Amino acid sequence: MMARIFSGIQPSGDLHIGNYLGAVKNWVQLQHQFETFICIVDYHAITAPYEPADLVRRTHDMAVGLLAAGVDPEKATLFVQSQVPEHTELAWIFNTITPLGELERQVAFKEKSARQEQVMAGTLNYPVLQAADILLYLADLVPVGEDQVQHLELSRVVSRNWNSRFSPAKPFFPEPQPRLTPTRRIMGLDGQAKMSKSLGNTIGLLEEPDAIWEKLRPAPTDPARQRKTDAGEPDKCPIIYQLHKAFSPEETVREVEENCRGAKWGCVDCKKSLLPNMLAELTPIREKARELQADRAQVSAALDLGATKARTVARETIKQVKDMMGLAREGLIANAMSAR
Ligand code: AMP
Ligand code: TRP
Repeated sequence: MMARIFSGIQPSGDLHIGNYLGAVKNWVQLQHQFETFICIVDYHAITAPYEPADLVRRTHDMAVGLLAAGVDPEKATLFVQSQVPEHTELAWIFNTITPLGELERQVAFKEKSARQEQVMAGTLNYPVLQAADILLYLADLVPVGEDQVQHLELSRVVSRNWNSRFSPAKPFFPEPQPRLTPTRRIMGLDGQAKMSKSLGNTIGLLEEPDAIWEKLRPAPTDPARQRKTDAGEPDKCPIIYQLHKAFSPEETVREVEENCRGAKWGCVDCKKSLLPNMLAELTPIREKARELQADRAQVSAALDLGATKARTVARETIKQVKDMMGLAREGLIANAMSAR
């Protein structure tokens, strides 16, 4: 069987270049080599405060962004989590074999609960649902950014716990591994923290060229470079050098290194050389997204197709899990009792 990959993304509205470089671009490449499942995780999203009308729009916009970035609904199974109820079904099952302590020590939980007055159970159980997402498809590999590595460790704990209790002779669930990109952690425009929607330090994947330039121009660079004549160190430049490595051809990256260390280019020159290379990759994505925004039927059809394909696999996993656990799937009680 072709190895399976699974990844999820929250319908947080617009994609930013951190999501794109850390995860989405990788999916677009991997969909040619693996059986690929990409899920817009709206059940995860509702663990944070939200407006119902807003959520539907964000889910739609996320689908547009993913399709525009190159996720191909004929190759990959692209779907919305809440359209496949087996995700929450398996999450409940996993809750019964996951120690509370494992959930309480998750860094993402500690950070989120510190910000909330009243902490909901869904915030704690968030990574259990994530484990269910992945294991429902028996996926081996999970292409994500670095911030998801701890959640994946938990997925492996869940898998091991379930296997040792219900299928000790031959493990039923795999132990999924992260698959990181070289750009596993893109810094935000403040140069202080990772690029993140909630920190407001992003460049949107679909932003107009002028808006991108307005954000690049004031972005911080190597603090030792006060003047153009000060020699710089690219590795101390938190954003621009990283983006050159992601978007510019190798010879440009070498030119940047030489001209920065040799104080031949100012930082604005360096940013000017970056912009067209970014736009070369982002403009076709922006144009494709505009086309899709105007064609809701096409987006819906892609998601419906994905949900149908996902459910076929999800149902089969749940059927087997129920059998192994002694839960009553259709026909099971009659069959089990007549075998006595
Ligand atoms: P999220 O928007 O938090 O649902 O993240 C979607 C995907 O993008 C996950 O695989 C994250 O690990 C990845 N990601 C988010 N922010 C960044 C970033 N600043 N750098 C690299 N990857 C990121
Ligand atoms: N927690 C992930 C994030 O915030 C989203 C996610 C949910 C996910 N389920 C997943 C990622 C399964 C990978 C696999 O980015």
